[in-house]
Amino acid sequence: MAQFDSPKAIVTGGGCRAQAPDVLSSLHATRALIVVDPYFASMGFVAELRAALDRHRIVNDLFTDFQPDPTDQNVLLGADRFKRLGADSIVAIGGGSALDVAKMIGASAANPGPVSQFQGYHRISNPGPPLVAVPTTAGTGSEATKVAVVTDTTRNVKMMILDAKLMPTVALVDYELTLSMPKPLTAHVGVDALTHGIEAYVSRKANALTDPIAISCITKIHANLRAAWEDPGNLKAREAMSLAALQGGLAFTNASVCLVHGMSRPLGLAFRLPHGLSNSVLLPTVTRFSWNGAMARYAEIARSIQMASDKSSDDAACQALTDWLDDLNADLRVPRLRDCCGGDADAFRAILPKMAADALESGSPQNNPIIPSASEIIELFERAW
Ligand SMILES: [Fe+2]
Repeated sequence: MAQFDSPKAIVTGGGCRAQAPDVLSSLHATRALIVVDPYFASMGFVAELRAALDRHRIVNDLFTDFQPDPTDQNVLLGADRFKRLGADSIVAIGGGSALDVAKMIGASAANPGPVSQFQGYHRISNPGPPLVAVPTTAGTGSEATKVAVVTDTTRNVKMMILDAKLMPTVALVDYELTLSMPKPLTAHVGVDALTHGIEAYVSRKANALTDPIAISCITKIHANLRAAWEDPGNLKAREAMSLAALQGGLAFTNASVCLVHGMSRPLGLAFRLPHGLSNSVLLPTVTRFSWNGAMARYAEIARSIQMASDKSSDDAACQALTDWLDDLNADLRVPRLRDCCGGDADAFRAILPKMAADALESGSPQNNPIIPSASEIIELFERAW
């Protein structure tokens, strides 16, 4: 048995952000809190959105008081702003941080108490307000996932919160908003989206509905990520990457992520690495460790992107896949782990046991083709170093 969750509607295409007022009206919204990445708050398209909402007689206000890798404090502040506005809906605009904090603002507005009460699986009692998600990166796929990641500042833990009530009501996937992404961000979120496709395909919870979406995500990224990175104005590549990220989100939210994400959350928290970067630096190493647990699946991925022929052995196909992942990171200038963690090997080693324990605690490694022990996770971190 498998269940497939998705937004009620997904709109794609250049300029589709202009649909937001009509979408809100169709949801009977009259007062909207716009949760927007501070970077975008002063941009013309946000002013245009607000003017259009005014014309639709939808009262609106901006909330920008949150940080990259948002915290429980950011969520509670936003929920307070939501209540003071008397809002009945949320528009979330930005990367994964904006979308995740917006999801949790909605959940917290409907369920008083600490944000930590939601950590884990299906812990949200009352549904939040309608949420329209407008991503500005091509990476997290948060516009189509029932997941949010928020840091608990009391315990210094990145909480993974999964609940169908976190699924955005409508996703407006407008690739034009991704054109301003700088090269490193394009690379890191692009490899994050690739990680979603690969982990969804090899996950123990993969199913017949998620498989074709995951493969389509992977093949689009294979064909377009380098082009989007080399030429940020390449509209065709940008559009394909936006669709791939959306597909990655749909695939992993219904099939789960695995060991890369399990390890990247504590790594990102310990060294303040953005989510995309912490996944990117781990993907080749973790794939090399995991393929023996699902060799045929990894080989199918390699064949889908013509890294191996139908006649090649599964073993050779898996080798070709990991070689490609290494090459992709090198071409996109993704740094080695040691280069983005300050280079202090002793400090890194000292924190490995906690990171391994937090990774296992998250539940994601348990979906991996090979379920690692804590000592194996520590070894993997050291290999990636
Ligand atoms: Fe991710």
